Amino acid sequence: MSDETSFAGLFGRAPEIHTDAPGRVNLIGEHTDYSGGFVLPLAIPQRTRVELAKREEPRVRAWSANFGDSADRETPEVEEYRLGEEEPGHGWIDYVQGITEVLRHAGYTLGGFDLRVESDVPLGSGLSSSAALEVAVLRALREAYHLDLDDLRLALAGQKAENDFVGAPVGIMDQMASNLADETTALYLDTRSLHYEKVPLPAQAELLVINSGVSHRNATSEYRTRRRECEAAAELLSVPQLRDVGLQDLWRLGTLPEPLDRRARHVITENARVRSAVAALRERDLPRLGKLLDASHESLRNDYEVSIPEIDRLVELAKEEPGVFGARLTGGGFGGSIVVVTRRGAAREAGERIAKRYGEEIGKQATVMVPAYSPETILTRRTETGAQTPS
Ligand code: GLA
Repeated sequence: MSDETSFAGLFGRAPEIHTDAPGRVNLIGEHTDYSGGFVLPLAIPQRTRVELAKREEPRVRAWSANFGDSADRETPEVEEYRLGEEEPGHGWIDYVQGITEVLRHAGYTLGGFDLRVESDVPLGSGLSSSAALEVAVLRALREAYHLDLDDLRLALAGQKAENDFVGAPVGIMDQMASNLADETTALYLDTRSLHYEKVPLPAQAELLVINSGVSHRNATSEYRTRRRECEAAAELLSVPQLRDVGLQDLWRLGTLPEPLDRRARHVITENARVRSAVAALRERDLPRLGKLLDASHESLRNDYEVSIPEIDRLVELAKEEPGVFGARLTGGGFGGSIVVVTRRGAAREAGERIAKRYGEEIGKQATVMVPAYSPETILTRRTETGAQTPS
């Protein structure tokens, strides 16, 4: 980090608060959250880190190493706005503006602050860089201003900022995952009631997450369309949300016009797959879990139509690897990443081979995100689990 872009370099004083929040990978339960359904995400080691110091005046100054184009500039660009005068349309700072506006509307009192953001969750990778930013900033503000914001309200505030201010009609999965999930336990979340249970990954299993290098930029309009299609299908089926239709009612989809029938079939079968995946995890039945991931991918590709050829190829390459139980697109789609369940010990090598073959065939660079390579991450994780740190 150059001195110029350290907190002191940017703002001329030391930060008072340090917080962070992880990205997430969704094991299964894709495009179900805005239909009130079930999801099963985990945290990833990559995180967004925030440093903050309060200010006397009600102004916000903020700098990010990753968002917007400040990463390309020689002179860092500090964004600035006055609390109460938030205005959308200014790039990454809209997430911060959205948060201060949402908190104010919810009756919380904030003062001004200086903020520095740095993240190793890649943008557009389907691994929730937005939610990691929202949750990290909300955690910093909660600490700085002693906000009475429990974990659920914090996640909801992040989602509201993204829905109402940034203008992305996302569900609640990512904010809940970033705030509540960890790297070895899946968060089995009912996105309607927000009840959740933690379901550990069996010791024999390992996760592999590969970023396709195709950014899902411009996916918002497709996402909005899918969301509207689900709402339209629910209305035609006379239910509040597609969550309220079970497998036994699949025959009713015959009354829906194309493509609403296929969209609804994805959501209904995906909800059932999440429940089966939870049972498979509890029974340590990895072949069954793998088949559910494969079926989820087929459904996302054919019925929900959110995959792209590069992602399909990564999934195929993964399935050719020894020790792989199943693979699928993870996140919103139209690019981003895949998640693979492997036998413990097989993920890293499989990941390297898949990335190599993908590069040779497609000419794009895939990156293995999990298992993570960063020595820093490995060190922190070992320290957290109380195991020996490398000497
Ligand atoms: C994005 C959204 C989530 C969810 C996923 C698809 O990540 O932020 O709310 O809808 O897409 O499962």
